[in-house]
Amino acid sequence: MRRSTAHFQGEKDFHVKDLKLWKGLFPYILPRWRGLSLAIFLSFMVTATSLAMPRLVQVGMDDYILNENISVEERFQGLSLLGAIFLGIILVAFVSNFFQVVTLEWTGQQIMHALRQGLFRHVVKLNLSFFQSQPVGRLVTRLTNDIQNMYEMFTSVIVTLFNDGIRLVGILAIMFWMNWRLSLLLCGIFPIMVLITVLFGRLSRDAFRRIRKHLAEINSYVQETLWGMFVIQIFLRERETDREFRELNNRYFDSAMYQIKVFGIFMPIIEVMSSVAMALIIWYGGGEIIRQNMTLGELTAFISYIRLFFQPLRELSQKYSIVQSALASAERIFQLLETKDMLPVWDRPMKGFPVKGDIRFENVSFRYAEDKPILHRVSFRVAPGETLAIVGPTGSGKTTIINLLERFYDPGEGRVSVDGVDLRIMDEHWLRELVGLVMQEVFIVPGSIRENITLDRELGDAELDRILELSQLNSLLRHLPDGLDTRVGEGGMDLSAGEKQLLAFARVLARNPRILVLDEATANVDTETEMLIEKAIQAALSNRTSLVVAHRLSTIRRADRILVLDHGRIVEEGTHEDLMRLNGVYHHLQSLHNGEGLKLSPGAVESFKL
Ligand SMILES: Nc1ncnc2c1ncn2[C@@H]1O[C@H](COP(=O)(O)OP(=O)(O)OP(=O)(O)O)[C@@H](O)[C@H]1O
Ligand SMILES: [Mg+2]
Repeated sequence: MRRSTAHFQGEKDFHVKDLKLWKGLFPYILPRWRGLSLAIFLSFMVTATSLAMPRLVQVGMDDYILNENISVEERFQGLSLLGAIFLGIILVAFVSNFFQVVTLEWTGQQIMHALRQGLFRHVVKLNLSFFQSQPVGRLVTRLTNDIQNMYEMFTSVIVTLFNDGIRLVGILAIMFWMNWRLSLLLCGIFPIMVLITVLFGRLSRDAFRRIRKHLAEINSYVQETLWGMFVIQIFLRERETDREFRELNNRYFDSAMYQIKVFGIFMPIIEVMSSVAMALIIWYGGGEIIRQNMTLGELTAFISYIRLFFQPLRELSQKYSIVQSALASAERIFQLLETKDMLPVWDRPMKGFPVKGDIRFENVSFRYAEDKPILHRVSFRVAPGETLAIVGPTGSGKTTIINLLERFYDPGEGRVSVDGVDLRIMDEHWLRELVGLVMQEVFIVPGSIRENITLDRELGDAELDRILELSQLNSLLRHLPDGLDTRVGEGGMDLSAGEKQLLAFARVLARNPRILVLDEATANVDTETEMLIEKAIQAALSNRTSLVVAHRLSTIRRADRILVLDHGRIVEEGTHEDLMRLNGVYHHLQSLHNGEGLKLSPGAVESFKL
């Protein structure tokens, strides 16, 4: 199994100030500026209403409840009027709050919808080699969790932070307007608060980074373990994996505890500060009332305002955590969006020309990784209509040749062409239509057998019947209750290796490609199925140029020519008879296996060479 820690080298640190990050978001946010502005406007309304309430209470107390200068009648009337206004404000607050939430969530969902789509579209276009270097789990996380994280940041943070900002400024303005001396006194505790908040920010960022890292390690470990469960159980590695997981789990636990401690200190400090402010108001404000510089209503309003003032600070820690994880997600999403790991696309790719099916490999060298060359100056031709078999020990590069012909990769040196046209200037989709592929592993799409054969094609009944006949699937379908409509793949029936093979042939016959590439599977099947497969192969190979990585003697003998590949080099070439006469690698492979198939370890070939 791969070591999970190696997966995190790509995760770098980031800062809120990182402009590139925000720039990446703009194309998604800008088209929704209307919804966004509406949401912001509505949140202004919500803030304004919440700030008006303490002021109304003050007016009620000073002008009517405690005002001995006007008649009782007038006091009652004024109080009723205030009550009505209060009710009206509550109503406005309710309505704007409702619409603010709906608009905001709606806009947020839209932005994330677009982002998810954009990200998916991008990932699907990436080169295959990218997927081999990336754990699948990580990509899944990008498209699901990370987008969700950003959504949360967007709805619950950006806008609330904005709200809180307005609210804090509004409260300060009102307080200074009501009583600047008391307000100035309260401002004395500001520097302490700023200091604490900044310190808290530092500590919690550190804590979050650790948590995130350890959680990612756990995720990826779980993913790998589940993926490789088969291997783990066969090699009795349960205990070891348990130990490894415990280590990761403990590390995560520790970092979570660290974070809890940081938060645990911050919250009470904010509470203490809030109480100190309250005490200051009562102590100084009380004195002012006695000196008749201030009214009881003003004091009450001050107390309400200071409560409102501290509320966002109390929620700060919570929001901080959302911002942190959202920024981390944003960072990773844009990193992925910036990955341009695609094969170069020609300006005006060629397609649609009549193809005879003339395949040429000219001095092709290739490597997956820098330090490990796989193919060395491989040259061969498959003439139109010819069947060429490639044989060679495992790991010699047979599948790699196929990968190059399908242009899953580009060769490092040399050229691969069809009818003289370099694959690099050919339209990718057209090429894949042109070159039908039956791989060693057959990929089953969840759905009916019919869907698995036709895929995106429309096929007439007669055509389908012919294909079922040729691919020998008929004999299989006879045993199935629902015939062609039997569901296979996830949630459906399991097909055996042999049945999957037949299905793959039916699939390729349905597409009727000019060129057929077959990577013969080495699965052991019973004699009866073996015969069916041989017939299906025969049907698939006829009437088209074929390149076959062959293990069956019957397939090899059917080929017009055979290439013998060893360690990425062509070592022999000819017909079966030629090669047997040559008495070289091929002859040896054959005699070793008594003609039962050519699956050989490189070691066996080595020993033969000595
Ligand atoms: N995606 C990949 N990344 C890195 N190395 C790879 C990759 N695919 C194959 N290789 C390496 O390239 C070499 C050739 O692999 P290839 O799949 O072409 O062998 P093969 O001849 O098809 O073997 P087999 O008979 O077992 O199918 C092997 O050493 C293999 O480890
Ligand atoms: Mg292979």
